[in-house]
Amino acid sequence: MTTPDPIFVDPRLARLYDAFDDDRGDLDLYVGLAERLGAGSVLDVGCGTGALALLLAERGVRVTAVDPAAASLEVARGKPGAEHVTWVEGGADAVAGLGLAADLATMTGNVAQVFRTDEDWTQALEAVRDALRPGGTLVFETRLPAREAWLGWTRERRSARRDIPGVGQVEMWSDVLEVALPLVTFQQSYRFPSGVLSGGDVVTSVSTLRFRERDEIEASLAAAGFEVDEVLDAPDRPGLEWVFVARRG
Ligand SMILES: C[S@@+](CC[C@H](N)C(=O)[O-])C[C@H]1O[C@@H](n2cnc3c(N)ncnc32)[C@H](O)[C@@H]1O
Repeated sequence: MTTPDPIFVDPRLARLYDAFDDDRGDLDLYVGLAERLGAGSVLDVGCGTGALALLLAERGVRVTAVDPAAASLEVARGKPGAEHVTWVEGGADAVAGLGLAADLATMTGNVAQVFRTDEDWTQALEAVRDALRPGGTLVFETRLPAREAWLGWTRERRSARRDIPGVGQVEMWSDVLEVALPLVTFQQSYRFPSGVLSGGDVVTSVSTLRFRERDEIEASLAAAGFEVDEVLDAPDRPGLEWVFVARRG
């Protein structure tokens, strides 16, 4: 199974996620789709700190939210309304065992790109298929390789500061470590206020993401028993992402 990066697993970093990823306009499309489909039950795979799960639960949707990173789930469980969501610690490959027949499965925040090998990706798609009811829908996004998002993952173009309650001002920056397409490896560094952490003020997290081409994704969906209904553009990131909407056959 693909294991999550330190940024999601290390409690010192998991608590920073929402502060640095504070514009969640990307989730409007997913909430809109759940409404359009009349989804009564949703499986949110790689839910992280629970942003989408909580938005859907607020609207009366039954949500099962799954992530292998315990520290991210801990953040999610501490949010208002968290009691209305079923949180499960586990990877995508384990969702078939949950006994669900969900109307809709979601993978937001480019979760699809964490599956680096074909084997992991196939396993994830097959498990999600089995957790959907026949005719249920899977929706996920992934970055277009041709738009070379990693060119922006440099200190000059991607750095930020946030005030974190109980911590103080934290500074974040990114560095690309290797581009070996279809894989891109980058590092995110976080500088905490002096003395807040024991053993140094900077904590780093290295991530490797897989950039798949559209035809590869369409073929993998077909092989896992999905029919592609639509490939949308992410309205908040026009031209940069594909949003696949696929139905379990
Ligand atoms: C960029 S975050 C997105 C989180 C959330 N979906 C959002 O939109 O905020 C990627 C998530 O994928 C999760 N992840 C990593 N490996 C996974 C796996 N094998 N199965 C499911 N999720 C995984 C990470 O723990 C992390 O929470």
